[in-house]
Amino acid sequence: MVKTKFKSKFVCQECGYVSLKWLGKCPGCNLWNCLVEEKVGENSLGNREFLNNLEYPKPVALTQIEPKEEFRISTCLQELDRVLGGGVVLGSLILVSGDPGIGKSTLLLQAMYGVARQGILVLYVSGEESLQQVLYRATRLNLLSSFLKVVSLTNLVVIKDILKNLKPKFVVIDSIQTIYSPDIFSAPGSVSQVRECTNQLLLLAKEFNFTIVVVGHVTKTGSIAGPMVLEHMVDAVLYFEGEKNNSYRILRAKKNRFGSTNELGIFEMVDTGLREVANPSEVFLSGRSCQMPGTAVAASLEGTRPVLLEIQALVTTSNFVTPKRMATGLDYNRVTMLVAVLEKKLGFAMQNYDIYVNVVGGIKVDDPALDLALVLSIISSFKEKAIGFLDVFIGEVGLTGEVRSVLNLEKRVFEAANLGFKRVFVPNKNLKNFKKVCNIDLVGIDILDEVLQLVF
Ligand code: TYD
Ligand code: MG
Repeated sequence: MVKTKFKSKFVCQECGYVSLKWLGKCPGCNLWNCLVEEKVGENSLGNREFLNNLEYPKPVALTQIEPKEEFRISTCLQELDRVLGGGVVLGSLILVSGDPGIGKSTLLLQAMYGVARQGILVLYVSGEESLQQVLYRATRLNLLSSFLKVVSLTNLVVIKDILKNLKPKFVVIDSIQTIYSPDIFSAPGSVSQVRECTNQLLLLAKEFNFTIVVVGHVTKTGSIAGPMVLEHMVDAVLYFEGEKNNSYRILRAKKNRFGSTNELGIFEMVDTGLREVANPSEVFLSGRSCQMPGTAVAASLEGTRPVLLEIQALVTTSNFVTPKRMATGLDYNRVTMLVAVLEKKLGFAMQNYDIYVNVVGGIKVDDPALDLALVLSIISSFKEKAIGFLDVFIGEVGLTGEVRSVLNLEKRVFEAANLGFKRVFVPNKNLKNFKKVCNIDLVGIDILDEVLQLVF
């Protein structure tokens, strides 16, 4: 017989720190007033009698395990499938998080319709919206399928019972912060509730082999409530991001046990729901109208997909003692390092100038191949001279001002050629084993000095 006793503990609602007595300030995250009392029933797990009755798995050699093929299902949304590494792995647990109103419910309803359309049973548990609201959205977006079942519920015990009877292959919990387990004496959305509900769903998913997609809110501090707790429990963490005044949405994987984390999915929110953006370069370059000083086009690689981006720079006389440097979408330290290279190696005196750089389209990039375009946009603004409208720059810039080779040059150059660019500056070292691309003028560069003479 396993004894159950009740214990009280105080849990930080921000970081999950546990204390046995109440504290005004959390020692884990230094926030005030965030510890909340929680009563939990504990099994005496260390009990020998309990262990004797328990069947536990025996260790086996890795060579003895039968490989099980992972089975993936497409959501019919290619952008989502790619971020997940080629579809959803059956039996996995996925966390989708983002700001309220960004489009998580819309994305999941569309994705689950894509799954249900293949004759796979899906249960959509909406803890936030009523059945009428879900129906209204599904009708408007034309997402009606008899395999897509919806229930508006928040009690975990009832949800589990429905799952056991219905046996769906996919379950969406929208959102985990609204679901509560009656066994835990704290409010829905608290760390204990979020952790316990996810845990119970996970155990059930193992038993019945269904896939769970959980929606998690981002709190004001930018983390999901109970962040550490949720993120390490799930197989994949997806972030759905976007700017308030921009209809483009970016889906990225922060963690993925079944694929890489550097793929991006790009969507546009239109009146018929989320539209997939198959060619992101067109989106990011759409604002370019005429030849202006301070902008250059770079070819970045986001996962396996080449994306052309416009990099803008503004170099203006400074009114500060220490001139200002600001980078949006790029690594700040990398920008200051490249400015130092410009000062030392090319002799541009920028110590009395403020420098602002920005990647157009609200995207964050971290690809050294963007260096060359960044450097040229800064020089272009400094000299007040525009760069050719059909020029693209690819290359990493080293500390001595040399242009270093980059990965996957072919893909980047082909993307530039597809979009009608005429001249691409590339690292000379990359050019040796490179096939000729028609309609494009490839210029190999060894050091920064050479490119300046050719461009301006
Ligand atoms: P929603 O999916 O409810 O966001 P979340 O679940 O992340 O809170 O999306 C809400 C926003 O999306 C809402 O402000 C309106 C907008 N939207 C459209 O522009 N077009 C559409 O077709 C839909 C369904 C929503
Ligand atoms: Mg929602």
